[in-house]
Amino acid sequence: MVLAGLGAYLPEEVVTNDDLSRVMDTSDEWISSRTGISQRRRAAEGQTSLHLAVEAGREALKHHGEGTAIDAVVVATSTPHRLCPATAPDVATALGLGHVPAFDVAAVCSGFVYAAATAQGLIAAGTARTVLVIGSDVFSSFLYPSDRNTRVIFGDGAGAAVVRAGDHDEPGAFGAFDLGSDGEGSDLITIGGGGSMPPSEDAPAGRDQFLAMEGREVYRRSIPGMADSCRVALDRRGWSIEDVDVMIGHQANIRILDAVARNLDLERERCYVNIDRVGNTAGASIPIAMTHAHADGAVRAGDKVLLTAFGAGLTWGSTTLTWPELPTI
Ligand code: UT7
Repeated sequence: MVLAGLGAYLPEEVVTNDDLSRVMDTSDEWISSRTGISQRRRAAEGQTSLHLAVEAGREALKHHGEGTAIDAVVVATSTPHRLCPATAPDVATALGLGHVPAFDVAAVCSGFVYAAATAQGLIAAGTARTVLVIGSDVFSSFLYPSDRNTRVIFGDGAGAAVVRAGDHDEPGAFGAFDLGSDGEGSDLITIGGGGSMPPSEDAPAGRDQFLAMEGREVYRRSIPGMADSCRVALDRRGWSIEDVDVMIGHQANIRILDAVARNLDLERERCYVNIDRVGNTAGASIPIAMTHAHADGAVRAGDKVLLTAFGAGLTWGSTTLTWPELPTI
């Protein structure tokens, strides 16, 4: 499977740290130093993960170039347009892609990595030759208004990649994926209500419709989680950490990225960061970062790239790719 196009979409409204410190007990100093975030975006009222996914998907199709049929659409989202049906069929229809297979993957912050692994499987099985893989999340709809633990880090956004069948040694080729999960940690980041589980009697009325996160514990587990997963993905590709030109990690917290880089013995300069501008966009984080890294010139044709993510589920995943020649964005 080969990377053949990228795109991202961020909603217009910018929410700065100062904006948040006016409505809750926090400060620009605390948020910047503890998370690396300066601002994040918020979707407009009525703008959902579907709308963001369509915009990012359209950008990726443009970047890829007109004229190639898309055979499948996989949308990574944990904040779907609605609980049922999936968001992906609406995305495929809105983009005029015809009656292609289209479905969602719910692996939260690891969602894009899981969705890309799924696309690799569809391609390897001969079910599809070219797949549009999108990560789109609008967590702002699920953040409790006074929860500074979650409101300071999450931002809305979508990113997309076109991937196609190709040789394992051609520019843009992905390696094997490492994927994992640990359901024993499923309560650490959760929206408890809204599923088929009866409402919890312990939760204050309505509170379980919102995201609850034990941030410190997730933080603690994410560092070895991502680093170990990176080692497996590198091993499967036959690369060592010295081979890696750029690591594009899930942008959860800059201190997590720094600690993962330290754990791997990867120089900080080789670790791409855009969390300052976008916050933690959950399943959209990696494809937005890939798009921004390409647009910034932080990753160049021929670079060896490591992707890694960790988040709710708990889930994690990593993979490798060589960066292809792609048009500038
Ligand atoms: O996307 C994938 C899943 N999510 C993550 O990976 C998130 C991982 N976790 C984190 O990024 C961090 O745990 C947070 C950013 C959520 C919190 O940072 P922290 O350094 O773990 O803070 P903490 O919860 O340990 O709190 C440290 C102190 C506490 O004060 P005391 O008890 O030391 O006086 C908190 O009350 O900071 C206080 N605090 C805040 N102060 C101002 C916690 N949140 C805030 C805040 N503003 N927003």
